[in-house]
Parts: sequence; structure tokens; C-alpha cells
Amino acid sequence: MMNKNLYIKTFGCQMNERDSEIIEQLLAQEGYIPTDNPGDADVILINTCSIREKAEQKVFSLLGALREEKKRNPDLIVGVAGCVAQQEGEQIRERMPHVDLVVGTQQIYRLPEMLQRLAGKVTTREIATNLESAFAIPPFQKLLKDVAPSPAPQNYRRFVTIMQGCNNFCSYCVVPGTRGREISRPLADILEEVEILVAQGIKEITLLGQNVNSYGQTNAVAGQAVTFPGLLRQVAAVGGLKRLRFTTSHPKDLTDELMRCFAEIEILCPHFHLPVQSGSDAVLKRMNRKYTIAHYLDKVESLRRYRPDIALATDIIVGFPGESEADFAATMELLESVRFHSSFSFKYSDRPHTRSAGFADKIPEEVKSQRLTAFQRRQDEISLERNIESLGNVIEVMIEDSHAAAVKARSGANQVVHLSSSPVDVYPGDLVMARINQAGKHSLKGTIMLQSTRR
Ligand code: 5AD
Ligand code: SF4
Repeated sequence: MMNKNLYIKTFGCQMNERDSEIIEQLLAQEGYIPTDNPGDADVILINTCSIREKAEQKVFSLLGALREEKKRNPDLIVGVAGCVAQQEGEQIRERMPHVDLVVGTQQIYRLPEMLQRLAGKVTTREIATNLESAFAIPPFQKLLKDVAPSPAPQNYRRFVTIMQGCNNFCSYCVVPGTRGREISRPLADILEEVEILVAQGIKEITLLGQNVNSYGQTNAVAGQAVTFPGLLRQVAAVGGLKRLRFTTSHPKDLTDELMRCFAEIEILCPHFHLPVQSGSDAVLKRMNRKYTIAHYLDKVESLRRYRPDIALATDIIVGFPGESEADFAATMELLESVRFHSSFSFKYSDRPHTRSAGFADKIPEEVKSQRLTAFQRRQDEISLERNIESLGNVIEVMIEDSHAAAVKARSGANQVVHLSSSPVDVYPGDLVMARINQAGKHSLKGTIMLQSTRR
């Protein structure tokens, strides 16, 4: 088998990051070796994101730049995967004729045959963008057995996909279009994948899905009766796993049973990403979010009752069509009442085939920018105040990088913690107790006290 070099550039969410890993593993079996240098590559794949217009522009400017590369090396295969591939399909080739391959979000397992045909010059273009109505996620965990784990720097933590797609149709969002209808992966496959990873030395797992709270409602396996809390408990029971996280959750599907898991599952980290999007009920209604701020605040209160140290993170869109000054003030007010540890905030962006793209009263760009700046400025202050609350505490952190002059670690609450010289040797994936003695808005500093008893 001839070895070839594969360069993958990944944009967007963790779902895409995980898909890129799967692609690497799939193609490793065909003799493709990952490279960091696009200049050495036989195949360049761009795994794309279309959540906002800016993300999509980045993809097209990178593809444009690859035109020269392709002129220099006509044998180079240029492919587009992910959400832009799914959304634009054939049209990508019209805009970028040097693109050889377009593969949609549910067809990545076809890449080996597609590339084989292209490399063998059996075909000169390959496009596969079907969204299957009864799509069954192939059992990718089998790949992990056959292929040595890639020498990723983060070999102590991994993502595991538990479902894909979304049925919620928030009015601004492309995901139901780019990732299809929601489907849950079979429980047995998920557990097998977690077990293999833990046996390979993985200490922390993040379960991934667009809306993990509805896991099990849309089953790939007939008769499988397990809810997300049930799944969490089974994954948590895999011996040797030290930390468990999950993302993302829709507030409307957040049950008391799930919130209770934060009190009862020891390895479940006290960090919760619960996108709220807006502080205004009127805006939430037009976003088709199906909850009110009163509901959201109720859930926040319950979560904090179950797990007082839980760190909450959220997503915010400013400048949604029709967002008045009063609506935006309500978002700022929400920030004061919840005091999120962190947030991801975005200017609203019109996306193709979404309902809100057709809404009246679009907000001017400069108003969106002003609101975003105001929001982020206040969030930064609150993030700093939240981090200051950790001062003097002794907390358990997981080592991420022990080579740097200062050791880098992460708390269960997902704060980055820089540790000064260690009294003991530490390695990525180790749990240690650290005393926090400095706080910034994006990170903490501390000293290692001792190895955690859970080590
Ligand atoms: N414009 C701006 N932000 C968006 N998001 C999703 N769609 C859009 C859009 N059209 C944001 C939401 C979501 C996050 C992943 O991206 O906040 O939670
Ligand atoms: Fe998009 Fe809403 Fe589904 Fe999240 S829940 S992926 S924001 S449609």
C-alpha cells in the first residue's frame, strides 16, 4: 500500500472536530498519514461550518487560495466536507471548479471509495450529500480497535458522539438542514467506544450531540429504552474514567432527572453549557425556542440547588430581527441575574433556508456591533468576578500540558489553571489538587498541593 499525506483543516463546532478525527481514522486504513503541512498533502480536506456567514466566508477564501496549490500540483485532491458541503453541494464546484470532492455530513464513511476513484482517475469529481431519513450512524468505534490512536496532543480526553442532527428548528439555525433529523446512536456502540477509549488511557469523555437531552427519543435501535440520564449513569460506571462532560443541552428538554445527575454522579464535572440565546421572551418566541426566561431561571435555580459549585455557560445572539432596545436590555438583565461563568456571543446572521432570514426589522450592523461589545464587556467583568470567587480554594484539576514552563491544567468547572513548579512529576491526564492564588478573566493561577486521591 502506497502512503499518502492527508491534510485536514477543521472549522466550527466539536461535532466537526470529532468528524475530522473519524475521517483521519477511516483514511488511515487506506494508507493516508495526517500531515500539518498542506504543501506536503496529496489530499486536502476542508471540514466546514456554516452556522454564521463569517464562518462560511472563511471557507471560501481558503478554498480560493487552494486554486494556486492545485495549479502547482494537478494531482492534488481538494475536498470539502461538513456543513457548507451539505448546504451548498454541487454549487461549491460551480464557484470553485478546482474542488474535486464534496462530501456531506452523513456521508463521510464513503470517503475511502470516493478518494480511491479520484486517485485512480476513475472519476474526476465526487459529490455525496444525501441526508438519509433513516440514517444509521456507522459503528465507528470499530475503527479505534484497528488503528492506533493518532498522536494527538490531547490523548487524555476525547469526544464521543451520541446523536446527530436536530429536530428543533430554531428560526435562525441551519443545523436541522445541514445535519438532518435527530437520531440517537445505539447505547451498545457508545459504551463500547467509551470502554475502548478508557482502555487506551483516555481519562475524560465529552458526550456530543446537538441536543443531548433528547437522547433516546429518536432511536437508531428499535426497542432501545434509555434516556440521557440513563446513558450518563452507564457511561460514568465505566471503570477508569475520571471525568465526564456533555454538550449541548436545550433548556426546554432539561429534566429534573438530568439535573439530579449533577448531584449524584461523582465524575460528572460541575460545568454546564445551557444556551439561552436571548433574555427577552418576545425574541425567544420568534426564535422558536419554546421556553420563557422564567422557565430558564427556574432551571438555573434547580441546577444550583443540586450542585452549588456548578459553573454555567451560555450562548447569546444579539441583534435578532426585531430586537428592540428593551429586548436587548432584558438580555443584559439576564446576565446580571444568572452571572454566567462564561458565554459565547454572536451577532445575528441571516442564513439560507432559515425562517428568520425572511423576518422584517433586521437590525443594522452597527447596532449589532454596539450590542455585542456592550454584552461582551459586561460578561468579561462577570467572568473575572467569578474567577475571583475561586481565590484561596483548593480544587481538583486535570493536567493538560506538563511540558510548558508553567503546567497547564483545567478545573471541573472548565477554567484554565496555570500551575507553578510542581513538587511531583505530573503528566497530561493526571488529577491533582491545586490552591488557586491568582485570577484573571480567562484563566486562574495556582500551585499544586498534592496528587488527587482519585488519581
Ligand atoms: N446567527 C448568529 N448566531 C447563530 N447561532 C446559530 N445560528 C446563528 C445565526 N444565524 C449561534 C447560537 C448557537 C451557536 C452554536 O451559534 O447561539 O447556540
Ligand atoms: Fe440549531 Fe436550535 Fe437545533 Fe441548536 S437546538 S442546533 S440552535 S436548531
